[in-house]
Amino acid sequence: MNTQEIVKNIFYVGVNDRTTHIFESLWSLPYGVSYNSYLIRDGKNVLIDTVESGQTYDFMDKLSSILESEPIHYLVINHMEPDHSGSIPAIVAKYPDIKIIGNKQTIGMIKGFYHINDDKLFYEVKDGDVLELGTRHLSFHLTPMVHWPETMMCYIPEDKLLFSGDAFGTFGALNGTAIDTYTDTELYIREMYRYYACIVGKYGRFVQKALSALSDFPLEYICPTHGPVWNNEIEKVVDIVDTLSKGEGEDGVTIVYGSMYGNTQVLAEAIASELANLGIRKIRVHNAAKDDMSEIISDAFRYKGLIVGSPTYSMNLFPPVESLMQAMLTRDVKNKTFAAFGSYTWASAALKKLHEYADRLGWEVVSSIEMKQAPNEDHLFAAKELARKFKETLYDQTGI
Ligand code: FEO
Repeated sequence: MNTQEIVKNIFYVGVNDRTTHIFESLWSLPYGVSYNSYLIRDGKNVLIDTVESGQTYDFMDKLSSILESEPIHYLVINHMEPDHSGSIPAIVAKYPDIKIIGNKQTIGMIKGFYHINDDKLFYEVKDGDVLELGTRHLSFHLTPMVHWPETMMCYIPEDKLLFSGDAFGTFGALNGTAIDTYTDTELYIREMYRYYACIVGKYGRFVQKALSALSDFPLEYICPTHGPVWNNEIEKVVDIVDTLSKGEGEDGVTIVYGSMYGNTQVLAEAIASELANLGIRKIRVHNAAKDDMSEIISDAFRYKGLIVGSPTYSMNLFPPVESLMQAMLTRDVKNKTFAAFGSYTWASAALKKLHEYADRLGWEVVSSIEMKQAPNEDHLFAAKELARKFKETLYDQTGI
């Protein structure tokens, strides 16, 4: 990925990572990821964020290709997670007269992560502060917990351009261009659900607060820390992030099951078939033991309905289902219409455990069924009944 001019004298200088398998050592990256950074040349040279430390060499080369022998005057750090702050030490080493712009928490984190302690390097900003450039103004807006407490965004009114940090980010390395107008965005839009659910999902109310604080800013360009610069698709991505952060699920159902020998899977398939017979088109069935956890969490965030099934395993949930439920608890997945199906061979525990998770997350429990050993006619009838009740409840709420 080359550098690219987004608007006059504002350049994309980020990098692609097509090598890392798991982001944050947790989330799969089948299409890679970009670490975005932007360079403004307007009276002063201002760099917005850096990139992950493994990409520093490539990053510094890109900067030099634009700046040649000119210095960088300001480095704005909107977010301190190391995928964006990892090249701060290299930037400071090459440009020792630079001023690093951040809020109080940012500066504390730079000292803690990188042991850069010279206070002369720092320029602390507060919410609403403005830096005057040659022909532009750069205003700073604190947006804590989107995704860390120090997170902020900055805005250039002359270009209607927002540097949004992790908000509006997505997985997927960039394919030849940084701007959505010149690329097929289908992949990035799809991956945005997975990115939101796994990275920012827990902090929906803070995302809502940030969206509301920025709602009066006209937007022509959103420049996030991952994925394309949004220009053509702004309305769509703002709507996706708004909907997800409100916890408003789409009209569909995620069915997740664990099954050691296929018996519990029979119930999952029976419920899915009946829901399909009843006219629900968006049904996503996942095997918790095999499917990518990030895909399951993404669907659980995205769709209003969630049905989970598990065998009893050592008087607990089957471990892959237990991991998934813990992950949903950690991410505080809200506002689900829920049903459960449990199974056991000699002593029952799974169904009770699923209900405990539903209680802790405040989900509306529609129905549940339990099976001893293998499915019989009664179990299959009960599975159909569960699907009917579930559809009726969803229909009441969403008008599917
Ligand atoms: Fe891509 Fe929260 O950092």
